[in-house]
Amino acid sequence: MESPAPLPAQPVYLSRTESSEIILQSDLNHLGHLFGGRLAGIIDRTAAISAIKHARSAVVTVAIDSLVFRRPVRLGSILTVKASVNRVFTKSMEVGVSVWSLPPDSSADAEYVCNAYLTFAALDAEGRSRVLPPVVPESEVDKRRYEQAGIRREHRLALQTELGKK
Ligand SMILES: CC(C)(COP(=O)(O)OP(=O)(O)OC[C@H]1O[C@@H](n2cnc3c(N)ncnc32)[C@H](O)[C@@H]1OP(=O)(O)O)[C@@H](O)C(=O)NCCC(=O)NCCS
Repeated sequence: MESPAPLPAQPVYLSRTESSEIILQSDLNHLGHLFGGRLAGIIDRTAAISAIKHARSAVVTVAIDSLVFRRPVRLGSILTVKASVNRVFTKSMEVGVSVWSLPPDSSADAEYVCNAYLTFAALDAEGRSRVLPPVVPESEVDKRRYEQAGIRREHRLALQTELGKK
């Protein structure tokens, strides 16, 4: 049987995604700060849009690396989440996300909240994971993220092997 034609590579910028929302009362924890689980959901959703733009098909979240929230996000802040595909491996891709918060009562610049790295797989019509088109890092920033995604993958795989899990 003939092997399928290779998929055309796509530049990182085609996967770039940015979403913003205002933080409301219903998003807060008992301390009056944005609830971490709510932020994790926003991160997953924005990263999934970036992954879909690259894959041009349905995707599933395979893994989310550890999340460290660097500062609280307050009521009325504008939260901005930026995502792009850092690197494609074979059937999986890493999406990098950065999160910024603009407080409601300040003329200061947006504050850094956290970074996140998520792994997605694309599914075919039968729901099986499929080979993805390569991503081309063009800018210096894209190239740095591409290299670092490779290092993070090695660590993920090494950890799974060490813990005896897949
Ligand atoms: C993701 C899923 C499709 C993988 O299916 P599978 O048949 O086991 O496919 P594979 O083993 O070939 O893995 C597919 C890719 O995922 C990667 N992968 C699998 N487990 C992984 C993990 N724990 N961390 C990072 N990548 C992982 C594999 O390395 C492979 O990528 P590669 O080809 O680039 O190396 C399947 O496990 C699944 O459907 N999981 C549930 C996903 C979901 O529902 N997410 C929403 C939240 S519940």
